[in-house]
Amino acid sequence: MDKFVIHKSHLKGSVAVSGSKNAALPIMAATLLTDEKCVLHNVPDLMDIRTMADILRVLGKVVTFEHGTMTVAAGKKKSYFAPYDLVRTMRASFCVLGPLLAKCKKAKVSLPGGCIIGVRPVDLHIKGLEALGAKIKIDRGYCIGNGANLKGKVIYLGGHFGSSVLATDNVMSAAVLAKGDTVIEYAACEPETEALGLFLKNMGAQISGEGTPTVRIKGVDSLGGCEFKIIPDRIEAGTFIAASLATKSPLRIKGANYLHLTSVIETSRKMGAKIDIDKNGDILVKPPKVLHPAHITTLPYPGFPTDLQAQFMVALCLADGISMVTEKIYPDRFMHVAEINRMGANVQRSGPYSIVEGRRKLYGAEVMASDLRASAALVIAGMAAEGKTEVLRIYHIDRGYEKIEHKFNAAGAKVIRAKQTKDV
Ligand code: EPZ
Repeated sequence: MDKFVIHKSHLKGSVAVSGSKNAALPIMAATLLTDEKCVLHNVPDLMDIRTMADILRVLGKVVTFEHGTMTVAAGKKKSYFAPYDLVRTMRASFCVLGPLLAKCKKAKVSLPGGCIIGVRPVDLHIKGLEALGAKIKIDRGYCIGNGANLKGKVIYLGGHFGSSVLATDNVMSAAVLAKGDTVIEYAACEPETEALGLFLKNMGAQISGEGTPTVRIKGVDSLGGCEFKIIPDRIEAGTFIAASLATKSPLRIKGANYLHLTSVIETSRKMGAKIDIDKNGDILVKPPKVLHPAHITTLPYPGFPTDLQAQFMVALCLADGISMVTEKIYPDRFMHVAEINRMGANVQRSGPYSIVEGRRKLYGAEVMASDLRASAALVIAGMAAEGKTEVLRIYHIDRGYEKIEHKFNAAGAKVIRAKQTKDV
């Protein structure tokens, strides 16, 4: 197991954003909808991507992945069984359910189980697929489904916490091969879901309204292969913005789509940063000498992303005043609070709210990464803190950030990967 050893860092220059993990994963799952070859470009080289490639292989695909290009083609033998061993490591693997039901007409997919950031049920996925006519039963941890008679339907897909990204993806990926018309109301509007819609359209699906709350789908008989470029990772870009704010370092962020980051840019400006977009679309972040406090509420897109809550909380610890962070997607997603408090922060959590006292100095400490985004927050805290920080259990960060230490170090940071000898 590896750890990061981090010293206080000042960043300068530029960092480049990779392709989006959360766009690539459901798109990879959607390649199950065709027997023809799909070629994906700008795919980030991450553990989660490799896990999804393994799932596709188990389901009978031949997958190659080199220099950011992934090719998915039909193998000799097909399977509709996605086993627990693979699915349990990553929730996004549940996204194979919709494509399997639509294309193979049956599926046996392990339920993904709990997760450190909250309960994360799959009721909306199942509700949407059943509305299309899939027969689904849950048996000994598996979701066993029959999709022999999928028919278009008007489906309301809102839940207690609003729309669901992967449920929308699953239902959309099944409806494209269902008979007749489907309307998904309260669909997720995230750019990753919009990208899946565009990918499906490239395969020959008839979809309109992808990326809006109402998605309309006209079922077709079959889909073909295609070539597609994965969109830039807005969460990685937002992580770089948070790093720039927390380390008070001006930074140029290359290759992001700033239009996917309006809530994040707005929040950063409220915190006193000057943010410009140059003619190439690069995001230029110039933090103020002293950050202003801000209230952040996470919401479905285009609201402030839950996947950036932890990273921005670190910056708020250094702001000149008191901030409030409200988590409206995953009310328990505050595992990082105890860790950053060990570094000198003063964050008080009560239910889905955290009060962040600013004007704190952070000091290096040994801290433990609990999930992907919390790990990124601890790396940022380490770069902003006096002295040496050790972030343990960084395998979480390898799931979702491509070459993070190389990217930060190329911009002047001091983040060293080392072997973690202690088992924690
Ligand atoms: C996606 O997860 C992302 N994962 C998550 O990113 C992200 O945090 C989340 O969307 C919210 O933006 C991928 O894209 C692979 P949801 P997803 O269904 O789709 C509730 C990361 O760090 N809900 O949109 O699983 C759910 O509990 C990860 O990269 C139900 O109640 O999230 C939550 O409160 C972590 N029933 C809310 O909806 C359901 O059936 C939104 O979750 C499904 C979800």
